[in-house]
Amino acid sequence: MLKRHLLFILVSFSLLALTFSTLDTHPFYLPQNWPKPSYNFKGNPLDVEKFKLGRALFYDPILSRDSSISCSTCHLQYTAFTHVDHPTSHGIDGRIGKRNSPSLANLAWRNDFHWDGGVLNLNSQAINPITHHDEMDITLDEVLRRLDHSPIYAPAFEKTFGTQDIRPFHLVKALAQYTVALVSANAKYDQVMRKEEGVQFSEQELKGYNLFKQNCISCHSGPTLGGDLFRSNGLILDPELKDFGRMTITGKAKDSLLFRVPSLRNIEYSFPYMHDGRYKKLKDVMDHYAHLEDNQVLSKELKRKKPNLSSNDQKDLIAFLKTLSDKQFLFDDRFKYAPLK
Ligand code: HEC
Ligand code: HEC
Repeated sequence: MLKRHLLFILVSFSLLALTFSTLDTHPFYLPQNWPKPSYNFKGNPLDVEKFKLGRALFYDPILSRDSSISCSTCHLQYTAFTHVDHPTSHGIDGRIGKRNSPSLANLAWRNDFHWDGGVLNLNSQAINPITHHDEMDITLDEVLRRLDHSPIYAPAFEKTFGTQDIRPFHLVKALAQYTVALVSANAKYDQVMRKEEGVQFSEQELKGYNLFKQNCISCHSGPTLGGDLFRSNGLILDPELKDFGRMTITGKAKDSLLFRVPSLRNIEYSFPYMHDGRYKKLKDVMDHYAHLEDNQVLSKELKRKKPNLSSNDQKDLIAFLKTLSDKQFLFDDRFKYAPLK
């Protein structure tokens, strides 16, 4: 009897300990068989306390002029860190940006950022939304002043970076500790690729995967199914937004209307689609590829071989794309808001 009692106490105690267990290792990890990441970890070594600081900042509207918008406003975890239902981003004072907020995952493997590749470093990327007129619209000086005066952040920066003099590079490194940690590599797709026991594509998913290999993988390639290439998938210019994509950065006519080939991970959740969010549903995306019209800018991969997709093929492809959903990532508690102690 006493023994059973003791056991009960022991079990309840360990359950309690589990519930209150604190995060003690940095969540970044290298998935099996993935290439070496591009992020310079030497310049910002992984540190779980800095991660927690970055996480708090990511969720804090203190980084916007009127304290109304945080990074998470446009990058919401449950929708794979994108702004669900907003074709183009929605920032301070209801200002509408030109582009759809991309989903954030596996950024450590990228060499450049934004739809046009205009940003070359994940650390410095954060300066962009903070100071952007249509996003958070605040000066770095003002952000640093707020952090210096904050009873939460001033001690947190001192504890993690050992400084009372918070500089922009401390701020962006803390944020990057969080964004670099967003690794999504445990979708059904990954489990099938890793040949995990008992996991298999359904017949329909397998048909979709074969169609994907025939029509899509030439651009949406590698473990992230997209990433650093700039291409045209045949979208025509939106006459109002007049967004010429990669050409805005390089100034070269040959780059007109090229955009990043985005990663397709968690695509089921990151609607609407494309750089300007013009398509609401995966079905619309399928329609686009199935009825592709040749135009001057269309990239060679699609010019050479236009996808010939029957309506059943489109359903099969969508079934395959849904195997890229990684629920563990979307609901990972470590990425959720948690206050600094
Ligand atoms: C008002 C909405 C908005 C806010 C607020 C916002 N972002 Fe973004 N984010 C975007 C948009 C839109 C893009 C794409 C920009 C482009 O292509 O020009 C983007 C791009 C990014 C990228 C690059 C993703 C890629 O695939 O290239 C990262 C990383 C990122 N944001 C992180 C952040 C962080 C960190 C914050 C807070 C400091 C933040 N964002 C705040 C809308 C927002
Ligand atoms: C020529 C290279 C190329 C090929 C081949 C290609 N795509 Fe794309 N894909 C792109 C580019 C570039 C974009 C972004 C276009 C933009 O926003 O202007 C894109 C965007 C997408 C998006 C929207 C992603 C998002 O986050 O908004 C989906 C879904 C997609 N492609 C699926 C497919 C499927 C399915 C196939 C095969 C039938 C395919 N793609 C073939 C280049 C390609």
